[in-house]
Amino acid sequence: MKGVILAGGLGTRLYPLTKVTNKHLLPVYDKPMIFYPIQTLINAGIRDILVVTGGNNAGEFLRLLGNGKDFGLAHINYTYQEGEGGIAEALRLAEYWAAGDGICVILGDNIIEKNIVKAVESYRKQGGGAKILLKEVPDPERFGVPILDGNHVVKIEEKPKKPGSAFAVTGIYLYDGGVFEIIRTLKPSARGELEITDVNNAYIGRNGLTWDILEGWWTDAGTFESLRRATNLVAETGANRLD
Ligand code: G1P
Repeated sequence: MKGVILAGGLGTRLYPLTKVTNKHLLPVYDKPMIFYPIQTLINAGIRDILVVTGGNNAGEFLRLLGNGKDFGLAHINYTYQEGEGGIAEALRLAEYWAAGDGICVILGDNIIEKNIVKAVESYRKQGGGAKILLKEVPDPERFGVPILDGNHVVKIEEKPKKPGSAFAVTGIYLYDGGVFEIIRTLKPSARGELEITDVNNAYIGRNGLTWDILEGWWTDAGTFESLRRATNLVAETGANRLD
């Protein structure tokens, strides 16, 4: 299993913090944001990692992370997203590197309290398809929201005005090599992006999507409110705990 961290985008919701730097380089308590998703993957036993970035500050990732020595890695892989095409468009850049292997994709602004190793192991046993991780939140309308029928996800709606459940689809996704075929079939959404939610709905259409509930707290950090929340949670309880 390989790991992909999506760390591109313009971070416009954090402007002017992101005027001269990339969102994922901003501090969350005592570390740059991108340190957390890297540690999340490593704690899950994933050491073959690709960082997808873009924009004017891509070189800073190399300066910050180098070959991953601070994380005990032998190397980190990088690729560059030209333009702003959305999460699924950024993921498309991982195709050559993934070379048909299963991948664990994590959005660079998603920070978690605990370890996803159990979900990764259960995905391995699943033998293909996709797995998403859900978390109950007070504000599902900010996220991808699953509509559930018993244990089955019927559909995921992206930022619905009237959420069909109290769950968010977190930015941690497990996919097989078929994900890139799916991305090729996507059409841009109303906001002009290739949506990761459309990828997940395509897996639902093939009966190939499972889900787990994410243990411990989860937050994104792409708005002023969520960045503050992330900083407070990390300061109060610590992130990426192994217990
Ligand atoms: C993205 C996804 C959304 C998901 C969220 C998790 O939203 O589109 O489905 O719930 O990440 O952080 P965005 O950060 O682009 O608003």
